[in-house]
Amino acid sequence: MKVLKVVGNQKLSGSIRISGAKNSSVALIPATLLGKGTNTLCNVPNILDIDVLENTLKYLNVAVKRASGSMLINTNNLENKAIPPELSSRLRASYYFMAVLLAKFKYVEMAFPGGCEIGKRPIDQTLKAFRAYGAEVIERENKIIVKANELIGNIIKLDMPSVGATINAILVGVLAKGKTVIENAAREPEITDLCIMLNKMGANIEGYGTNTIEILGVEELGSCNHDIISDRIEAGTYTIIGALLGDRLKIDNIVPEHIKSLTDKLIDMGSKIEVHSDYLIISAAKLNKTNIETDYYPGFPTDLQQPFTTLLTQCQGKSKVLENIYENRFMNIPYLNKMGSNIEINKNVAIVNGPSKLKGCEVTATDLRAGASLLVASLVADGKTVIKDIHHILRGYEEIVEKLTNVGAKIEIKEI
Ligand code: EPU
Repeated sequence: MKVLKVVGNQKLSGSIRISGAKNSSVALIPATLLGKGTNTLCNVPNILDIDVLENTLKYLNVAVKRASGSMLINTNNLENKAIPPELSSRLRASYYFMAVLLAKFKYVEMAFPGGCEIGKRPIDQTLKAFRAYGAEVIERENKIIVKANELIGNIIKLDMPSVGATINAILVGVLAKGKTVIENAAREPEITDLCIMLNKMGANIEGYGTNTIEILGVEELGSCNHDIISDRIEAGTYTIIGALLGDRLKIDNIVPEHIKSLTDKLIDMGSKIEVHSDYLIISAAKLNKTNIETDYYPGFPTDLQQPFTTLLTQCQGKSKVLENIYENRFMNIPYLNKMGSNIEINKNVAIVNGPSKLKGCEVTATDLRAGASLLVASLVADGKTVIKDIHHILRGYEEIVEKLTNVGAKIEIKEI
């Protein structure tokens, strides 16, 4: 079993370069299957989720080549096959293949998508979108079959601005007949990235980045070259680390607008942070308590809630964390309390009584961002922390050990 061993309380200085966005890559890679030819994606992070997608592409007879951050995908021999649970259960984003294969072949069969166990995570909005295009959805105990004679554009009003359902609705809409309007669409930057890439491939999408997306279906799509945007959650995680331990730590290759909800909050709390056009510099400072409430983009992202909760353990006074997106995103808290924090949970509210001196001990990453929260805690704690189940962390953070070691952290992966 691989574990992360961290000796905490080291000042961090130098520069951390942010990688391509996981949640963009996991949508853009399946989206290339909608067209013909060779696509070149650059800035693809080297993380476990991408390895699973690469295996899924190969399973569908798609040619893939990866080299230092780029991925060449040739879709000319794509075959429609039922994606087995070994692949689909590894990540939530596997259901983007469902939309793509439906759009291309009018028939798809797949086991239910997996992903971090952070709440119920139903897929009813995706299925509602498929039905709106005229597809029939058959739900079996462990798989879903979706089929259609014809896919026809429609008005799709989502009950909530779900990222996954918006992406799936777009993936089908670009090849559906006629016009589609997605109302109450999600506005996350990863959706904008997807639409820009699809338009390069020949799609006709407008309104992305707002909550109404309009699509005029086209007969077929080609291929393109595309640079994936930088990962705002990785950027946010390292910014939080910098707010605790930075000594003019540079967080490079970011889109400041994408993490504004975080940087605005840190500035309010008294953080020493300078935001520039595509990087920021941050140093540790005494921070005031605050309250956060997770929301859809551009609100405070749920994916940064857990690492931010660790930061709150170091602030003077009572801070409140309200988690509005998922039912089960406090699994890091028992471990933070084991390390010495004083956090109480009541349903979807966590009250953090700070500051607390954290002490290294053995903890477990229960999901990706819970792992990130414990990593932040281990860096700020006295002594040695051992983090188990680190495959969750490696799903989303490229070269985490190298990046942190380069700026002065004492961190290593060990086989035990
Ligand atoms: N929801 C439904 N029905 C649906 C879809 C969503 O009730 O059909 C609910 C969910 O249960 C949740 C909320 O709507 O309460 C938002 O879910 P959304 O569909 O927006 O999330 P997602 O597409 O499953 C993506 C990211 C998550 C991130 C969320 C929110 C990917 C692969 N995953 O998930 O990322 O938390 O958007 O921003 O893009 C992570 O990276 O750690 C992660 C979990």
